[in-house]
Amino acid sequence: MNVLVFDTDDKLNEAGANIISGIVQTSPRAVLGLATGGTPIGIYRQLAADFERGMFSFRNAVTFNLDEYVGLPEDHPESYHSYMRHHLFRHIDLPDAQAHLPNGNAADPRAECRRYDELIERHGQIDLQLLGLGHNGHIGFNEPAHALTKGTHVVELAEATRKANARYFLSLDEVPCQAITMGVGTILKAKKILLVVKGADKADIVAKALQGPITTDCPASLLQTHPNLIVLLDRAAAEKLG
Ligand code: PGA
Repeated sequence: MNVLVFDTDDKLNEAGANIISGIVQTSPRAVLGLATGGTPIGIYRQLAADFERGMFSFRNAVTFNLDEYVGLPEDHPESYHSYMRHHLFRHIDLPDAQAHLPNGNAADPRAECRRYDELIERHGQIDLQLLGLGHNGHIGFNEPAHALTKGTHVVELAEATRKANARYFLSLDEVPCQAITMGVGTILKAKKILLVVKGADKADIVAKALQGPITTDCPASLLQTHPNLIVLLDRAAAEKLG
């Protein structure tokens, strides 16, 4: 595990964007696993700015997002389809057909999960999986549980997760109760994982995830088993590391 701690948000975002663009520069057909949430916004902004300078192209890349809410229309401002369009896709040259997210409005969600897994498999391995970290240790929407699911699946969102995400909606009632998420098996199969965490409110869970016991009660702790994990932290998030 390679843990890098940054004094400024700009430096962290630059480092994150450089890791992603470096993969696309060396492997133009790279398969990227992408994340949503507040954390990667600055990295996407930097990536879009670097793209604007003509440093690389996403023309031949393929992306798979970690998750999407169930039952939220794709064009709802808080859907992850909208998020990705807004923060990244509209700024770069990735063809629409090569940008994949689970369909949270599929008539048969279980069939949709199978379709998503098969699509990922068909592209071989994910070269780089970008991850944020939930306050409860979730990665994607893999919530703490007695057992975790390997592949893409429908998940009931933890109350803590719905409350954390309520800041984006008009009220807690509007936050969907379910999502479709990539499973931890798929996440751990990625060649390289880039975990990004910011803020003092995540310091405890960062220490638990990176230095605590490996347990499904903290899904991110499974990342300790990955041979190629890079962690980008700001000072505040790194505070409780021993
Ligand atoms: P955040 O979410 O980036 O909005 O804090 C991270 C996550 O829940 O995975």
